[in-house]
Amino acid sequence: MTDPERDSMALHDRRLDVPLAAYIHLPWCVQKCPYCDFNSHRVPRQLPESAYIEALMADWALASRHEIRPLESVFIGGGTPSLFSAASIERILSVIDHSLGLTRDCEITLEVNPGTSERGAFADWQAAGVTRISLGVQSLDDSQLHRLGRIHDAASARNAVTEARQAGFEHLNCDLMFGLPDQTIAEAAADLDALIALDPSHVSYYQLTFEPGTPFYKNPPRRAVDDDLATMADAGAERLRNAGLKRYEISAFAVPGEFCRHNDHVWRFGDYLGVGAGAHGKQTQANGHIERTARISWPTGYQAAAGNARAIAESRWLDSDDTWFECLLGALRRPGGITRRDFVSRTGLSWTSLLTKCHHLIERQLLNASDERLTTTQLGWAHLDTILADLEPT
Ligand SMILES: C[S@@+](CC[C@H](N)C(=O)[O-])C[C@H]1O[C@@H](n2cnc3c(N)ncnc32)[C@H](O)[C@@H]1O
Ligand code: SF4
Repeated sequence: MTDPERDSMALHDRRLDVPLAAYIHLPWCVQKCPYCDFNSHRVPRQLPESAYIEALMADWALASRHEIRPLESVFIGGGTPSLFSAASIERILSVIDHSLGLTRDCEITLEVNPGTSERGAFADWQAAGVTRISLGVQSLDDSQLHRLGRIHDAASARNAVTEARQAGFEHLNCDLMFGLPDQTIAEAAADLDALIALDPSHVSYYQLTFEPGTPFYKNPPRRAVDDDLATMADAGAERLRNAGLKRYEISAFAVPGEFCRHNDHVWRFGDYLGVGAGAHGKQTQANGHIERTARISWPTGYQAAAGNARAIAESRWLDSDDTWFECLLGALRRPGGITRRDFVSRTGLSWTSLLTKCHHLIERQLLNASDERLTTTQLGWAHLDTILADLEPT
């Protein structure tokens, strides 16, 4: 640590060095997809919409009570947030705007399942203040959508893209998965081409994973071998690049200027208030200490406790080892890596101390460092999991 870096930070409120965002979790889905381990639950006979919104707002008051920073972005995720009415989305946004304020060009993303976006819904979300839509397309092959347990078909996904555009949403992400049951390399490429033909400004291209606790983990469907999955990933990135979507994180591709500010904020170790069942948060205190929190995941338990510290199921203060490592966990996934300025201001640690920790990986040309930036090299991309395992403090 060079002392001038630390001394200059000790003189002022350290929160002001770290931008702030908000993550709002709405935890219900029409049905649970067999691959999904998100905190999402099959919707009860009656969606407890207004009770949940009240709980969220009480939780928001608790989470934001010592905050002074306006919000750079808001991400309303799930679950299936599009099950909630536009009036509820508007209420969430208006309460958080009145409490902390939104920056002038604050990005406000809503996750939408194409099976829940009825005619006119996009215009209502637009009027409620949403600026960006993230659509769970997953595939444009009906037989795959069926095997994935989705409630929508390819036609409704295409329709959702058209309607979102007609409502004026220019910032449009589509999630697509590859490595689907029995999917060949050619089929994965065709699926991605079908999505590219819809001309989204952003694509999240995920390899389907079999997560512990899910039906696909217990009874995995047959699928391509690892080498073929790697080919699908590389060929997919190439197709997206040729279509003008630049990779700015392992799974995230965007046309220039259309990257997701919220996700990029999180990967660059920004702060975020996380409210809603199971939501995670990260908050820097005025003295520079960093706290991570997680809310109770079960919706009824969360609702009963919201507004009270009991709703916080986990709270953890980061020590300096946690801090630099957790900062790199996000940063090394970005081709842009992390700048010295972001690292120093967001961790309170010195650039020299980081370069010392990474020295052996820089020597092996897995990471590249200058006075101003640390990035993963081309060679390092192929070994990112090994790099992170190597860096993890013991
Ligand atoms: C919360 S969901 C998106 C919104 C909405 N729930 C939906 O599915 O339409 C976030 C995204 O994570 C991805 N995802 C979820 N489980 C996954 C898994 N096991 N493997 C790969 N991607 C997964 C899907 O692409 C999904 O769209
Ligand atoms: S709709 Fe989305 S959040 Fe819900 S179960 Fe399916 S993938 Fe998970």
